[in-house]
Amino acid sequence: MSTDPNSKSSAGQTSGFDNFDTFATDYRSIHNDNIKLSGADSDYFSEYKIKEIKRVEGTAQVQQILDLGCGDGNSARFFYQHFPYAQTQGIDISADSIEEAKKRQIPGANFRPYDGSHIPFEDNTFDVCLIATVLHHIRFVHHPDLLREVLRVLKPGGRLYIFEHNPWNPVTRKVVDNCVFDKDAVLLSPPYSKRVVREAGFSQVSNTYTIFFPRSPLFRPFVPLEPFLGFIPVGGQYFTRGVK
Ligand SMILES: C[S@@+](CC[C@H](N)C(=O)[O-])C[C@H]1O[C@@H](n2cnc3c(N)ncnc32)[C@H](O)[C@@H]1O
Repeated sequence: MSTDPNSKSSAGQTSGFDNFDTFATDYRSIHNDNIKLSGADSDYFSEYKIKEIKRVEGTAQVQQILDLGCGDGNSARFFYQHFPYAQTQGIDISADSIEEAKKRQIPGANFRPYDGSHIPFEDNTFDVCLIATVLHHIRFVHHPDLLREVLRVLKPGGRLYIFEHNPWNPVTRKVVDNCVFDKDAVLLSPPYSKRVVREAGFSQVSNTYTIFFPRSPLFRPFVPLEPFLGFIPVGGQYFTRGVK
């Protein structure tokens, strides 16, 4: 794991791995193993992101959701729970992960592979786009073009949510260092994420920090405080939000 955006040498590929096909079938069990010190499992971390989006979206109309880099589709399960009237479209460069996602037959969700650059949807299609722990696998030089593609497919006023690991949190760095599918990861600093989203053409760009406490029983009473701590830049993860 590195935080140096120039540390990758291979030119012309969007991802450090050819893709995540290698991990398609056992992604969740590897992830569960990797994060067990946190006191929560992989499903917890998938769901908390959707709950954060729900909290910020409030009563906004959300009918069409894009899950870019959806992997095995776990987020779609929680979109269905928390946004039951919305349709989720998951896309990923890993064809095998997409096959896993399809097998799960998640209500309200469709999945398709794509080339990693050209989002296979019309302009102005989505209300919300989620990009969850994906950009640290994509070479930084490709971020602006991909984010401009997201801008294209969002409706006017549509919202982008990028969830990333926070390189300023030492526990997060350790977890990422020990994770087999994060060997290629180059973490995005919070100011970088804000800048690249703003420069892609989004407005009202903000960072919110999350996951301040372990989820073990000892710390559980403090977890409800986290929404009030979102401005403190040491949470284990953060999300960058922008509006088209
Ligand atoms: C750490 S996994 C996260 C999966 C999912 N977002 C989640 O939260 O469970 C990273 C995913 O990003 C995908 N990915 C890598 N480069 C991509 C690209 N250019 N476009 C879309 N997905 C990409 C990988 O194939 C992999 O499924």
